[in-house]
Amino acid sequence: MSTPEPAWSPLELDALSAAAGPGWSVTLHGTAASTNALAAQDPVADTIVVADHQTAGRGRLDRSWETPPGSALTFSVVVDPGIADHDWPLLPLAVALAVADGVRREADVPVVLKWPNDLLVRSSAGDDLKVCGILLERVQSAAGVPLAVIGIGINVGLRAEDLPVPTATSLAIAGSSVSRTAVFGSVVPALATILDALRTEPGAVLERYRTECDTIGREVTVSLPDGEELTGTATGLDRSGRLLVGERPIGAGDVVHVRPT
Ligand code: BTN
Repeated sequence: MSTPEPAWSPLELDALSAAAGPGWSVTLHGTAASTNALAAQDPVADTIVVADHQTAGRGRLDRSWETPPGSALTFSVVVDPGIADHDWPLLPLAVALAVADGVRREADVPVVLKWPNDLLVRSSAGDDLKVCGILLERVQSAAGVPLAVIGIGINVGLRAEDLPVPTATSLAIAGSSVSRTAVFGSVVPALATILDALRTEPGAVLERYRTECDTIGREVTVSLPDGEELTGTATGLDRSGRLLVGERPIGAGDVVHVRPT
């Protein structure tokens, strides 16, 4: 697959604000350590912090998230989800559905979901390569309202030589020349839509995720936060969105899809 030149044009605040649509207050930083860290400093609902380049991006399970300048879309959306506490574990899954919707719509790349919220592109060799990561953190507003900081990192224009790890890919490598602003303008409204659905019909959102998640039904290896490694069949999800490996519910962990032999 060809690797087009990246679009190095810097992000512009006016274009991002217009792309997000009404109801959002967007701030843009040329360089920031982590948009999640910035957004969590003084979290205000309906704000979005974007960085043209992140120097210390944070990933799930205490990992880092690195992308070369100008090539990735890195942003954090602060929302008051307005959902019951017991539905908060569904948020990462709902966000993954929304980002997949936005990416498919604008970039026309066939992304699939890996539990809980990685977006993958299947390579021609059959490997699952990660194109987007999501980091969700629960914080409190100054008034004590629980807010979600939804951090999203999408590899948009990275070339093969820019990839931080061999298991990553980008929309450009997958054949799309979409701009970061266009992806932003597709993902943010999709996010608003899924958050509305989660408020009114959490069970339906979970059911949709269950149908779309590529992990379900596959052989997986899961690295658990305590270091345990588990191999088995991902049989489904429980009501809290935990992955069932066999009958064992997994709330957090790093899943690898085992390729069929
Ligand atoms: C993962 O480990 O897959 C999650 C990666 C999340 C990265 C995004 S980039 C924007 C936001 N700011 C951060 O520091 N992390 C998230």
